[in-house]
Amino acid sequence: MSAAPVGSWLAAQPAASALALPAHAYVGARAAARDRGAVLACGWQLLARASQLARPGDHLPTELAGVPLVLLRDEAGVLRALHNVCRHRGGPLVRCAGSGLRVLSCQYHGWTYALDGALRGVPDMAGAADFVPSAVRLPAARVALWQGLVFGCLDHSAPPFEAVVSGIDERLAGRGLADYAPARRVVYEVGCDWKLYVDNYLEGYHVPRVHPGLNALLDYRSYTTTLARWHSLQFSPLESAPGLYGSGEALYYFLYPNTMLNILPGRLQTNRVLPAGEGRCRVEFDYAYAPGAWDGARIEADLAFSDAVQAEDAAICAEVQRGLDSGSYQPGRLNPAREQGVHHFHELLREAYRAASPQGER
Ligand code: FES
Ligand SMILES: [Fe+2]
Repeated sequence: MSAAPVGSWLAAQPAASALALPAHAYVGARAAARDRGAVLACGWQLLARASQLARPGDHLPTELAGVPLVLLRDEAGVLRALHNVCRHRGGPLVRCAGSGLRVLSCQYHGWTYALDGALRGVPDMAGAADFVPSAVRLPAARVALWQGLVFGCLDHSAPPFEAVVSGIDERLAGRGLADYAPARRVVYEVGCDWKLYVDNYLEGYHVPRVHPGLNALLDYRSYTTTLARWHSLQFSPLESAPGLYGSGEALYYFLYPNTMLNILPGRLQTNRVLPAGEGRCRVEFDYAYAPGAWDGARIEADLAFSDAVQAEDAAICAEVQRGLDSGSYQPGRLNPAREQGVHHFHELLREAYRAASPQGER
């Protein structure tokens, strides 16, 4: 592990004495570029539901850390994530989701690629000296299929996806998340840096004050956070009306760097948090439900309740971002009993920043 000068904000910090990240980590183009290169381009990210890519030829465009990708299932059933950037002059290959794809054809000048990324067809290129089409192919990102979800990673030296979710399958045994039926996507634009949104997600400390409605369903005294190498889990017992969630467990998984799985009885809500310009992020919520147990009215009740909680989070996050933007803020102490998840995330960020900038900075 790379070292950082003693006293640097990049140095590892014990939980009992840790400070939050400095304001400059959440502000400005330099921080955004560092996150993109050191964090988002190196980690595994949620890209789609497996059901969107069930058959050979199914495909959809997406992106990872600013790199356009096409996710597809090829003729042999292999799931692939190819760069959606033509090797001629950078044109797009796939613009929208669909099925029956047999070949990738560039929308600019018509170069064509097989579904494994190999260049196949090059119109009107007679006279191009020493041009070897068979040596040209679309780069591929790594892909992983887990619990009915598709994840991708640009970095071929990053840990395997199995390391990110190690231990979660055992905790979720019997839930059958992969069989949950997708119901709805809701996208939010939030006025804060993507990491600030993640920080807020990673602690229940704010729940009593910010979310009185949610707090009535959870048990704050029994709320726990469990840390793993690349993920964390917040847990609370849950009690609500049968027409909402009923009673059981609330499991809030965070998969570094930007994926959340919010699991309530018979319900999975995934969140993907993406930077959307300085001081802004975009959060995709995808809802899926266990077969049979959820009718339309109950789903609408979940969507309305979740939307109200999200509005509360978005409002406080935007205010915190203004506080960080103001120049007033100096890093404060984290609560070791209630903000373990935030500390865990900040330590992973510091580790990633150190690795990307071994000489240290600021
Ligand atoms: S950019 Fe793709 S064929 Fe020209
Ligand atoms: Fe919240």
